[in-house]
Amino acid sequence: MEESKQVHEEKLEIDRYERTYMILAAAMLGVFFAALVAGAIIYGVHLPTAVGFINPILIDETEFANPGLRDMGDNHYELYVVAQMWNYDAGTTESTAAGFPVLHLPQGAVVTFNVTSRDVQHGFYVEHHNVNLQILPGHIASQTITFSEPGTYHVICHEYCGRGHQTMGMVLIVDRATGA
Ligand code: CUA
Repeated sequence: MEESKQVHEEKLEIDRYERTYMILAAAMLGVFFAALVAGAIIYGVHLPTAVGFINPILIDETEFANPGLRDMGDNHYELYVVAQMWNYDAGTTESTAAGFPVLHLPQGAVVTFNVTSRDVQHGFYVEHHNVNLQILPGHIASQTITFSEPGTYHVICHEYCGRGHQTMGMVLIVDRATGA
């Protein structure tokens, strides 16, 4: 007598709703990934990465030895800033009553921010403008933007950097262009 072979087939049962949500979740991942790729390729969106590297111990032997604003002509400026616990050194002597350094820019100024850190990780965020940089010791972060509108714009450190983190800031005052 031959033993009847029994094929024991085990099928994975997935609940109908669970299956639906799994498909939806996978589809969403696909959409997000497509948006990421489209943003990078079509719209040229890239995360700001370090444009250069320096030895943070030898910072005073680099272009950051004299932080501040450099007039490159034609309303273009290069701004060198050293972030440190717990302030920004932007080479300016003017400050607010609260002690934040103040920097004046003319309306329409095209400013390239070059920022590095002397000690730990800091942030550099310019209010109402597309500048949101992570500042790491040894790295030079850079971003160029245009200040079209006159006004007062705060710069804040938005990366936690120790007990004085919340006191770390700077103020940019864009003065109205005369005769405009
Ligand atoms: Cu510097 Cu937070």
